[in-house]
Amino acid sequence: MKGTIAVGAGDGIGPEIIVEGVKVLKAVEKKYGHEFTLKYFDIGGVSIDKFGTPLTDENVQLCRDSDAFLHGSVGGPKWDYLGSKAYTNTCGLQIRKEFDVYANLRPAKVYPGMEGCSPLKSETVKGMDLVVVRENTGGAYFGLPKKQWVEKGVRWAVDTMLYSEPQIERILRVGFELARLRRKKIASVEKQNVTETGKLWRAMAIEMSKEYPDVQLEHVLADACTAWLLRNPAKFDVLVMANLYGDIISDEAAAISGSLGMGGSAQLAGLPTGNERAWGFYESAHGSAPDIAGQGIANPIATILSVGYMLEYTYGLHQEAEAIDKAVAKAVVQHRTTDIMEEGKTAVNTIEMGDLIAAAI
Ligand code: IPM
Ligand code: MG
Repeated sequence: MKGTIAVGAGDGIGPEIIVEGVKVLKAVEKKYGHEFTLKYFDIGGVSIDKFGTPLTDENVQLCRDSDAFLHGSVGGPKWDYLGSKAYTNTCGLQIRKEFDVYANLRPAKVYPGMEGCSPLKSETVKGMDLVVVRENTGGAYFGLPKKQWVEKGVRWAVDTMLYSEPQIERILRVGFELARLRRKKIASVEKQNVTETGKLWRAMAIEMSKEYPDVQLEHVLADACTAWLLRNPAKFDVLVMANLYGDIISDEAAAISGSLGMGGSAQLAGLPTGNERAWGFYESAHGSAPDIAGQGIANPIATILSVGYMLEYTYGLHQEAEAIDKAVAKAVVQHRTTDIMEEGKTAVNTIEMGDLIAAAI
């Protein structure tokens, strides 16, 4: 297998965790005989300093010419004066929209032995292994009208939760296909009791389930879903939902699973089956953590897991992706970075954790 990957390490702990992600990718290359060409570029604050913008047109093109984009993290106090607009829009939301990465896969899993890292009781989180499939380019984030205005001295604001049939169809399909690759269970999450988008969503989930008789479908209201996640997170396999619900529920799932440092993600412009090489944007779910940047203590696992998702979903390399997951599971049995440290475990830094996982490949 040959491939081209755009790599933007970014700011804060970004460069440190990307080095470890690439280390593990190299270990996979060597063991399984693949060849990935890595194209490094500047994104975020480093790009603002050099080019005056967080992402240049040339680098957007570089991403377009690659199979996937592996991202570290962006931002830091140095660039805060620019406000959130310059930042999140360009580096996050703009890429989502421009590359039409309509499916945001956010796995949340508790590795055996790590139950104690969860804020929930160990017996409650035991066996938790789910994926939130978040619609990523529509809904309340992008629907129009979206504005603020003043009428007779009163301020108003509106966001529009807007969905078309094709938009719902393609994200549900990602959910069903992913469920087929996993434990064949899907929870379709909406608010059909209140919203029209929810009613259409549920109706389409029922229609599409006829194409997937082997996948067990259940409907869960979004509010009830947040409660079920606290009561019995292990009951879920794939959860598919609209943009805004996915934003909220993926954070909840990540928190329940123990540490943000363990949460990778895959944002895809196609089905996760690997056959059509869906362009993907792979990154950890956490931020640039400027407070610990440069200390070598960040947890690189979220980025390493994201490398695994890239091999699985963009390249269809199941065995290699599984090797990464198993290597992570093996490493955390005894070795822990500070964010996931527990009594009786051995403390390691960023580089040591990367080394352990690479060695276990
Ligand atoms: C996320 C983040 C973003 C979102 C922000 C930074 C715009 O919270 O990726 O979940 O709301 O989508
Ligand atoms: Mg969020």
